[in-house]
Amino acid sequence: MFLGLDIGTSAVKAVLVDGDQKVLATTETPLAISRPQPGFSEQNPEDWWQATLASIDALKAQQPAALSAVQGIGLSGQMHGAVLLDASGAVLRPAILWNDGRSSAECRELEERFPALHQVAGNLAFPGFTAPKLIWVKKHEPEIFARTAKVLLPKAYVGYRLTGEMVEEMSDASGTLWLDVARRDWSDEALAATGLSRDHMPRLIEGSAAACRITPDLAARWGMATPPVLAGGAGDNAAGAVGLGAIGAGNAFVSLGTSGVLWATTDRYAPNPQSSVHAFCHAIPATWHQMGVILSAASALGWWSEAMKIAPGDLLAPLGEAPAAPSKALFLPYLSGERTPHNDTAIRGAFIGLDHDASRETLTQAVLEGVAFAFKDCLDALAAAGTTLDQADVIGGGSRSRFWIGVLANVLGLPLNRIEDGERGGAFGAARLARMAATGEAPEAVCLPPRRLETIEPNPVLQHAYAERHARYRALYPALKGVIS
Ligand code: XUL
Repeated sequence: MFLGLDIGTSAVKAVLVDGDQKVLATTETPLAISRPQPGFSEQNPEDWWQATLASIDALKAQQPAALSAVQGIGLSGQMHGAVLLDASGAVLRPAILWNDGRSSAECRELEERFPALHQVAGNLAFPGFTAPKLIWVKKHEPEIFARTAKVLLPKAYVGYRLTGEMVEEMSDASGTLWLDVARRDWSDEALAATGLSRDHMPRLIEGSAAACRITPDLAARWGMATPPVLAGGAGDNAAGAVGLGAIGAGNAFVSLGTSGVLWATTDRYAPNPQSSVHAFCHAIPATWHQMGVILSAASALGWWSEAMKIAPGDLLAPLGEAPAAPSKALFLPYLSGERTPHNDTAIRGAFIGLDHDASRETLTQAVLEGVAFAFKDCLDALAAAGTTLDQADVIGGGSRSRFWIGVLANVLGLPLNRIEDGERGGAFGAARLARMAATGEAPEAVCLPPRRLETIEPNPVLQHAYAERHARYRALYPALKGVIS
């Protein structure tokens, strides 16, 4: 029996998986984001911990015998967030999250102080990443920076509460800008450029390796006679990849979660920072990946649904099963700024091209298409980094919509696979990492692909129409940059 936990942005999700990889139970405990100033995005690490306890307690209520037989626990987590701890392990301030845009100036400082950063860390300095956040804290909250003894990513903080030990793994560590991604080790130079050293970092292991066991008290709380081992785990995207079996070079997926990710697994370190592509370690040894990340994917539909006060399912229903033609309106999904390809925290979203006929349906379709166009920019960025895809799976909450997948297939010009349990997210992959850590089984034996429900092929006529709309979409960012940022 294995337990996977995803410390997400909108919820902590837990899944209990048996030895045949069958999901026995799932739970979800919601989380709130605090935005104390425009562009800021924070959460209290204690909220993740309480939601983790609530999620596992809820699994116990559903499946007490299965939970008590858990051998391994794996964590998946929202990436990049900075959790600052003092020497006693107490949290010093709210965690600054992956979609927080406060540290643009600090990104430039970091790049100036450590010119080899792009090559070593495989990435541009994005404000969402961890290192520039620490430079911001040093500048704006010097007394907190002075008391900072350890910096953890969100899931490592939960791991610390589960085990009492501070351990991190390669895929999430890649999003800090402190990892030498080719060598799979902390970079002393990158840390020094932030005013930190290796002592501020947790111990590093591979995602599929065992970190340590959970505390006896917690094991007793959940009826576990032997405390299960905690695996290194994975950043949420790498965990999603493990869940999909995307561990071989060329495997690809589109994730329609709060953020959006276009992922390609690679068998070597292949950076191309200038196109704002991320080159990270995978959670499996000797494996890497590239990804393009957009900051608002399903959250763009979430925003529109809140603005309209209509549930997403009710907004989508009138659109039908497949697009017949592009919407007459265009939408820029830059509600939190954008990562790939613009690396711009100041840009904001927009509807363009409205006329008197612009109905709610027209605008809903424009929102879905705007997100798809942003993914097309990621596809072009991956191509510039030497990676071409011939198909991809679709996962995340947005994958519930056949219409949205149809739009994406036509915009990307790729066959897209709808898969069984596509909304499962990182928690299932985390349970697989737990299994590898607890049993020593090989990744190839555990990371099997899911069942494909259907492949949605692009239609040449629509593909052409969408290529024309995408060209217009591309022209909007430079035109609007100075106006709406
Ligand atoms: C990846 C990224 C997001 C978060 C969301 O670089 O910032 O996908 O991991 O949880």
